[in-house]
Amino acid sequence: MTTTWRSKARTARDKANDVVTRVTRRPPRRIRGDISPLWLDFGRTGRDQVGFLTEFCGLTPNHHVLDIGCGVGRLALPLTRVLGPLGGYQGFDVLPYLVDWCERNIAARHPHFHFTHADVRTSIGHDPGVDAADYVFPYADASFDLAYAGSLFTHLTPDAAANYLAQVARVLRPGGVFAATWNLYNRRSEQALPGRSLRKAWPFARDHHRLKDAEHPESNVAYDELWLRPAYRQAGLRILDPLRPDATYSPLRVPQRVSAAHLWYTNTVIARL
Ligand SMILES: C[S@@+](CC[C@H](N)C(=O)[O-])C[C@H]1O[C@@H](n2cnc3c(N)ncnc32)[C@H](O)[C@@H]1O
Repeated sequence: MTTTWRSKARTARDKANDVVTRVTRRPPRRIRGDISPLWLDFGRTGRDQVGFLTEFCGLTPNHHVLDIGCGVGRLALPLTRVLGPLGGYQGFDVLPYLVDWCERNIAARHPHFHFTHADVRTSIGHDPGVDAADYVFPYADASFDLAYAGSLFTHLTPDAAANYLAQVARVLRPGGVFAATWNLYNRRSEQALPGRSLRKAWPFARDHHRLKDAEHPESNVAYDELWLRPAYRQAGLRILDPLRPDATYSPLRVPQRVSAAHLWYTNTVIARL
């Protein structure tokens, strides 16, 4: 009885949320807030991502795009207005309710958009599943022109990150492009960013990476550039310099009242297979 009542309440809430979405063209605050601070403008940063992929990664309407850690459709929503019938989009994420929302509100109206739940374990929200270091992306080899990961590697520890890079290289077609945001530092970072202490943002130093929370390592991870470059090389991905601090999640989108020190270390890395 209680279960039936709960499930009816959940369905009613989902339907109400979907009405909000149709009117505002955004996911409800409750869901957005789980994957992104509410002061970061969801619509604008999504459009930034599409603009960035168009300007720097050659995105065209015919592209087949993979969105790793797709969240609640920040990239997918504006992409529905870019990708034509010859193109296609696949997104996956570990949190089932985000995938569910994207299926109901995006895939249902755009048949060339698909969302998949990745049953991968993380210390920040999805307990069951396989280790991210062993996860095999559920796509055929060489099936994408462009892969994107927005604030995904900020939640992966090194073995998992190395596996995800290898998987990206497997599913990209030769010449395909991969853009990903990372929290990145090197010997000179703190000099270049006075007052934005690495130690404050990620207190726990590990071998070539730093953690914000040692008990929940995936809550936020920053990498030493000295780890990143060989990791890309080993996966067969060629980094196209420069690393770009001016993309999504950049300080340009942070309101002045907010001191989000870690965002100053965000860089987008573009690579080609
Ligand atoms: C900060 S959010 C960014 C979401 C989205 N890319 C965006 O720009 O709005 C990070 C996302 O990565 C997902 N995630 C975390 N670990 C993952 C993993 N191992 N594999 C796939 N997705 C993961 C989270 O569930 C979350 O939706």
